[in-house]
Amino acid sequence: MPEPRPRVWVSQPLFEDQIERLREYFDVAATPEVRAYSEDEIAAALAPLDGALVTLNERIGPGQIDAAPRLRAIANVGVGYNNLDIEALASAGIVATNTPDVLTETTADFGFALLMATARRITESERWLREGRWQQWSFQNMLGADLHGSTLGILGMGRIGQGIARRASGFDMRVLYHNRSRLPAHTERALQAHYVGFEELLASADHLMLVLPYSGQTHHIIDAAALARMKPAATLVNIARGGIVDEAALAIALATGELAAAGLDVFEEEPAVCAELLALRNVVLTPHIASASFTTRRAMVALAVDNLVAALGRGPNAGSPPNPIRA
Ligand code: 8YV
Repeated sequence: MPEPRPRVWVSQPLFEDQIERLREYFDVAATPEVRAYSEDEIAAALAPLDGALVTLNERIGPGQIDAAPRLRAIANVGVGYNNLDIEALASAGIVATNTPDVLTETTADFGFALLMATARRITESERWLREGRWQQWSFQNMLGADLHGSTLGILGMGRIGQGIARRASGFDMRVLYHNRSRLPAHTERALQAHYVGFEELLASADHLMLVLPYSGQTHHIIDAAALARMKPAATLVNIARGGIVDEAALAIALATGELAAAGLDVFEEEPAVCAELLALRNVVLTPHIASASFTTRRAMVALAVDNLVAALGRGPNAGSPPNPIRA
């Protein structure tokens, strides 16, 4: 009797040609429409499976793992994996993987676009124009903050943070960064980035870009106290995870002039955005699209497929997925 084919689940509609690649090796249950799942629905979906390709929407922890005795691999489509309980997966012997590198430049491009839109009030002024409020050109309309010649603070100096730093040099910005660990001197030199403490980063940045992983340690690292240390004319941009910023405190800082503007691609309770932020004019809000270019989203899915195939012991890298997440 031939060995039964492993069974895998694809939790959201991805690219059909990439799903076909999975079908070479596995019996695939692919979801035809974008869906939000309850914790129980994810547990029920995973229960009979050997592996799954999931996105940031699907949270997988002990409740799902305990219900899935055959589960051996979870391939996350994304570099961030705070939707996965990595320790619980590791202790159940389940391999978890992510998709680093392929999205670095696209995400850094978007971070810069969001910074420019925020500092130069691009979406705010477009809304104002479309509302028919442009009656006459005026000298002091929609004044914003310069990027060139300003100080950019980068919190989190991994691959994407370094991509932001490379772009900043083209804008003649002074780059300061703070990170868990300091970069080697030659990397700092190449990026022209200077390491500073967290407090100094907050106080010195004209623009602060958040690019750090989300965890218990970084939850609300930008809280009311951190916001109070920033310059009132500063811009805050978050392309990491919503929970890094205390949104209620941010809304107060933006409403009271303690902070000039914010650009947010990520939110604490996605897809919900808090009403206080929605009501403000000085915040640019985008629906978690930093990696959303055609090329990059395809590359992310292709890499996640490579990871899942290999983690389930098939294909050219059988047993050695390219991007295992270490607990
Ligand atoms: C992804 C992201 O689109 O990679 C990440 O961590 O936040 C996004 O680029 C998302 O994770 C899809 O699951």
